[in-house]
Amino acid sequence: MKIVIIGGTGLIGTKLGALLRADGHEVVPASPSTGVDIIAGTGLAEVLTGADVVVDVTNSPSFEEKAVLDFFRTAGRNLLAAEAAAGVRHHVVLSIVNAERNPDSGYMRAKVAQEELVKAGTVPYTIVRATQFLEFAGAIAATAAQGDTITLPPAAMQPIAADDVAAALAWAVEQPPADGSIDIAGPEKLGQDEFVRRYLAAVHDPRKVVTDPDARYFGALLDDSSLVPLGQARLGRISLADWLATQDTAA
Ligand SMILES: NC(=O)c1ccc[n+]([C@@H]2O[C@H](COP(=O)([O-])OP(=O)(O)OC[C@H]3O[C@@H](n4cnc5c(N)ncnc54)[C@H](OP(=O)(O)O)[C@@H]3O)[C@@H](O)[C@H]2O)c1
Repeated sequence: MKIVIIGGTGLIGTKLGALLRADGHEVVPASPSTGVDIIAGTGLAEVLTGADVVVDVTNSPSFEEKAVLDFFRTAGRNLLAAEAAAGVRHHVVLSIVNAERNPDSGYMRAKVAQEELVKAGTVPYTIVRATQFLEFAGAIAATAAQGDTITLPPAAMQPIAADDVAAALAWAVEQPPADGSIDIAGPEKLGQDEFVRRYLAAVHDPRKVVTDPDARYFGALLDDSSLVPLGQARLGRISLADWLATQDTAA
């Protein structure tokens, strides 16, 4: 199959491209750095010619509330219209587990808007909803840091390795469109505070994590059901301990 990966130069897109090529597919990574911009529409019709499946793993350059909503709305409209015109048979998009349960987060609202466009469109689709990536630990720490103190809630997470996310997307590409969503998550649950504490220890970062149930995550107040799958989920294979072992660059 010809598979176009929009956002194919990013963290997930690069890993997904390698997996799909190994499965014998023709893979075309598309992003501004390869001449395809889904906001401007540049290069979109050309890259989609003859495509069977399109995977959308783009991300907004800005997480500011209005900017991220504008990005996913404009990107979704342009991409889905171009796919319909090109006769694409399956649109696979990467979203976030429970995005609609966290409306206080502008980023989550933007992902819900992206999902709504896909559901309302004419291209058969599969929405793969992942929990937070293990690779996001440093970014979570950065958003919650004040000096040497990082304040985070104890709310449950079930973070997943980017390699497991890519594997789930590669699997979804080879299935018929679900016209619905699939949740994917890591193999273990732990508090957000503990996740970041363990990450910082593994990378020899001396900053201290303070637990505060009222600390917000990208604007959202979390409880134990905010970020973890509440129904059936496909689980990744890579444990936190195994992933942390690969992060210890000082060893
Ligand atoms: N981080 C998490 O914990 C998490 C959890 C669940 C779901 N997700 C979702 O996972 C998705 C992918 O995340 P990621 O970490 O792989 O992202 P990433 O590494 O930041 O990559 C983003 C990709 O989007 C491309 N892009 C940006 N603007 C574009 C445009 N105008 N037109 C076409 N492509 C554009 C970038 O291209 P260039 O390289 O050319 O700039 C890059 O290839 C996101 O949608 C995010 O919401 C993330």
